[in-house]
Amino acid sequence: MRTSPALLIGFSIFTLSLATGIGCQSQAPAPAAPAQPQYMPTATIKDLMLSVIDGAADVVWLSVTTVVDEKGMLETKPITDEDWVKVRHGAVTLMEAANLLMIPGRRVARPGEKSETPGVELEPEEMDALIEKDRGAWNARAKALHDVVEQVVEAIDAKDAEKVFELGEQIELACEGCHKQYWYPNEVIPEFPSDTPSNPPSSAK
Ligand code: HEC
Repeated sequence: MRTSPALLIGFSIFTLSLATGIGCQSQAPAPAAPAQPQYMPTATIKDLMLSVIDGAADVVWLSVTTVVDEKGMLETKPITDEDWVKVRHGAVTLMEAANLLMIPGRRVARPGEKSETPGVELEPEEMDALIEKDRGAWNARAKALHDVVEQVVEAIDAKDAEKVFELGEQIELACEGCHKQYWYPNEVIPEFPSDTPSNPPSSAK
């Protein structure tokens, strides 16, 4: 095979520039390591809720259930190692998602996205402002979720289905606590649930 002169010249220029390039680099001061990683919070909080958090929570919640119907009581819980691994994946995903919620600069929703029930839910920009006003309070809500799910992971490692079930309620409280504060703080909770067949006293507003 013949080597073309053009290729040879090209190669020489390449090696030359490589050599000088390396020479330059050794004289330049080493770039300072960035103090903080540059997070890229591209997904919105709404995206995280729908794509990560809701599904992962369901994996944990649905792993231990009791259903009572006319045929009797049906209890579900993880049995095989494979079952437990599956629940663990959900729990670890949920636990780490709490950190994703704490990443600064993440918007609640994409520009232009609106609340589906205005007046009850805040608009995304209102939620953004609430979060920015007191990041510490927001982070504490996210950490509350992290901390309860950390206990869930421990219960899973101990294969303690009952504990996983109990903690499921705590997870729900962590979700609700944050939602009440940021998503629908104006929600009015009816004094009498509609499914309660009782007459409200005449003084009820
Ligand atoms: C640190 C605060 C925080 C925690 C903790 C949290 N959420 Fe949310 N969640 C929000 C906010 C804020 C919104 C409103 C965003 C939106 O949908 O506009 C939201 C919205 C949602 C939505 C509705 C998404 C939509 O718009 O359709 C779902 C579903 C949801 N969360 C599930 C959960 C579950 C399940 C948990 C607990 C396992 C949880 N969230 C924990 C802050 C939180």
